[in-house]
Amino acid sequence: MNVLKVLEHQLTQALIAAGAPEGSNAMVRTSARAQFGDYQANGIMPAAKKMGMNPRELAQQVVDKLELGGIIEKAEIAGPGFINLFINAGWLAGELDGYSKDPRAGASESAEKQNIVVDYSAPNVAKEMHVGHLRSTIIGDAVVRTLEFLGHNVVRANHIGDWGTQFGMLIAHLEELQKENPEIMSAELADLEEFYRESKKHYDSNPEFAERARNYVVKLQRGDEWCLEMWQKLVDVTLEQNQRNYDRLNVTLTREDAMGESMYNDMLPGIIQDLEAKGLAVEDQGAKVVYLDEFKNKDGDPMGVIVQKKDGGFLYTTTDIACAKYRYETLNANRVLYYIDARQAQHLQQAWTIVRKAGYVPESVPLEHHAFGVMLGKDGKPFKTRSGGVVKLSELLDEAEERAARLIAQKGADLTEEQKVEVIKAVAMGAVKYSDLSKNRTSDYIFDWDNMLSFEGNTAPYMMYAYTRIRSIFRKAGVNESDLTGNISLTEAEERALALKVMQFSETIDTVVREGMPHFMCAYLYDLAGAFMKFYEACPVNKAGVEEDVRNSRLLLCALTARALKLGLGLLGINTVEQM
Ligand code: ARG
Repeated sequence: MNVLKVLEHQLTQALIAAGAPEGSNAMVRTSARAQFGDYQANGIMPAAKKMGMNPRELAQQVVDKLELGGIIEKAEIAGPGFINLFINAGWLAGELDGYSKDPRAGASESAEKQNIVVDYSAPNVAKEMHVGHLRSTIIGDAVVRTLEFLGHNVVRANHIGDWGTQFGMLIAHLEELQKENPEIMSAELADLEEFYRESKKHYDSNPEFAERARNYVVKLQRGDEWCLEMWQKLVDVTLEQNQRNYDRLNVTLTREDAMGESMYNDMLPGIIQDLEAKGLAVEDQGAKVVYLDEFKNKDGDPMGVIVQKKDGGFLYTTTDIACAKYRYETLNANRVLYYIDARQAQHLQQAWTIVRKAGYVPESVPLEHHAFGVMLGKDGKPFKTRSGGVVKLSELLDEAEERAARLIAQKGADLTEEQKVEVIKAVAMGAVKYSDLSKNRTSDYIFDWDNMLSFEGNTAPYMMYAYTRIRSIFRKAGVNESDLTGNISLTEAEERALALKVMQFSETIDTVVREGMPHFMCAYLYDLAGAFMKFYEACPVNKAGVEEDVRNSRLLLCALTARALKLGLGLLGINTVEQM
């Protein structure tokens, strides 16, 4: 159960009963320090201000009116008018008993199920995935998993760049390669970067080739069968290659999730007509432009957003307008989340402003840009290979595995060859993903192998190790989790602290879903693992002399901790191992 929500609800009720205006909120948060209680209410002061009342007096009235049915042991008024809330250990123990057999560790499904579209990954066709696509892919996938865990109906929208004028030159180039080798397919196109570079070179240096390429663009847009066939080949080869990266990374995207730019192509002429009819798009030097008061150009005038070029071609913005419309009208989205890097913020805001003005998506359906920074090397510069090229995703993953292999060899754990392979893979992918997920992703992010592949700090190896520690406790105890009976009792401070963290699994999931940010889960898991390590130091489980019911209670606590760790890492798309 989400205790935070319950507390906030109850305190807000009490606040309103004490005379605060409707719409007031007690603003309950988890406390940063134990001396301020487990939770604290920060909403009394702003309410008191509105009421022209002494905040400490109001706080006292709220406390007097509280009805919490034993959840709280005490509520203390602190400072200028905070209320610090201390959870009752007896209640907490009972709460955990309630879900000690629950495979979801107390995190129930959302009461209100929504249709949610998540736009993520979105690499471009005939280009290899590079590290720039890593963040969107990893963060988006973690959010998708968490939304589905709560029971929402999620559409994974992989908005691949599969349309545009570049396809003329790519088709012309593929045509030439096929003349030499009619069977050319996947293997020969293994290096898509090379393929793209070569066709561009050709296009820039050979006017006859360029002419042909431009002609193919027109034909492709008119639906010419041969051009479409060639185009489909390029799409297929790219998707096949991307899928290998997704599978390796344990990302849930499949081919069926590709919903590229081309999908919206047929909608575009109608959209332009409609925007014109609504007086939003106007003709300007042959192009169709929407002027937006919300955005100013250099001279302070409304900014013009081109939606159709003079030559009739459509733009990236036009596609995103159609795409938002489709997601609302056809996919019935209640909420749409876009995981795209921060540099595209203005592009999205412009597209969505037009979408709202045209009435394609009502304000009640949020379109959210979850922006993130770019990946930087240790030197603070954009992450590049030694020779200055873009780092291919597949190469980055190879390196992760090499480094993880060294780390595991150093550790020298007693593992079979088979186990070793599994551990190395899990650690490698876990480390790359976790280091990305754990950052507050609006900022740029420093990619640092040494930090992510360490058993110390907020890292995947640390978290995975904490999990294996618990597994080994069970092996030593010679008991199965599922055979445990009896109750949890919380006497030691470390037991109580750990129990509180376990209980907060549910509210953490709700936060991740509300904010669309998986780093809240990472921070939680780090705290949980830390609380477990402290507990384990202070509270022996398998030692001689520990009483039977104490041992049993501690094992129950261990089992729930392990479950929350495994589930939490799983929601981040990270596998645990039993031993390492
Ligand atoms: N393909 C684009 C890129 O590589 C990202 C697309 C993001 N999604 C969208 N609906 N615009 O930059």
